Order: sequence, then C-alpha cells, then structure tokens
Amino acid sequence: KKLIIINGPNLNLLGKREPNIYGSLTFTEFLEEIVGKYPDASIEYFQSNIEGELIDKLQEVGYTYDGIVLNAAAYTHTSVGIGDAIKAIETPVIEVHISNTFGREEFRHQSFISPNAKGVILGFGLQSYELAIQSFL
Ligand code: DQA
Repeated sequence: KKLIIINGPNLNLLGKREPNIYGSLTFTEFLEEIVGKYPDASIEYFQSNIEGELIDKLQEVGYTYDGIVLNAAAYTHTSVGIGDAIKAIETPVIEVHISNTFGREEFRHQSFISPNAKGVILGFGLQSYELAIQSFL
C-alpha cells in the first residue's frame, strides 16, 4: 500500500511545542518507528506550514496513492480550500489529531476536514497516526 502522512502548520515543532499537549517525541523519531513497524507499506511524509502547499500535495498524490493520513492542524478549523481538495480527490483521507480537539477550545470543535474524510481519529497522541495507518492496511 502506498500511503502518505501529511502534517499541517506547527507540526514541524513536535517534541518541543507544548509537550504537555503534544508529547515530547519528535515526528522524525516517531516516523522511523512506524516505518520500521510496517515494512510492507510505503509510508511517505510531508509537512508544510503553508495552506496552498498542503492543497498542492493533496492534489499531487490524491489520484494514485491508496491512503492519506492528514493532520491539517490549525487549518482543520479554518480551511474551506483543504476541505474542497479532499472532496475533489479520489484517495481516501483519514483525519487525525494528536489531542482530543473536542475537549479543548470551542474553535477547535469545528472541522472542514471531517465531512469529507473517510474517518476521524483523535485524542490518542501520536498513536492516532498509527491507528489511521493500520486502517489502510
Ligand atoms: C491538532 C489540533 C489543532 O486544533 C491544533 O491547531 C494543532 C494540532 C492536533 O493534532 O491535536 O495544531 O491538529
């Protein structure tokens, strides 16, 4: 299976960003673990802080890959454009979040991703990504 994890803004800071919420592992460390654990899957990774680059990447992989694991981070709550991109492409997208966004501020309860996602996994820390990967295998 050809899969990609796409991370949105500020997720490049994982490990040092609010570790009480997001944990102290860097994404690179986590990714190494996951890639080693599922050797039969091809798991690529892309991160951007720029909304348009996330849309470009969704369009680029969205007709050929088997699955997309997307944490759009703050854009989850604001981006009609990313929501529309998910609607446009054919590859199924699983929305993930590290934290339980429903237990946090009201503005994090709204998602432009969820209505167009195959499923949503949130609140399990970095394990949210692994559960999403497993669901594609
Ligand atoms: C997040 C939750 C978002 O509300 C926040 O803006 C993030 C990370 C999460 O993974 O818990 O940057 O997507």
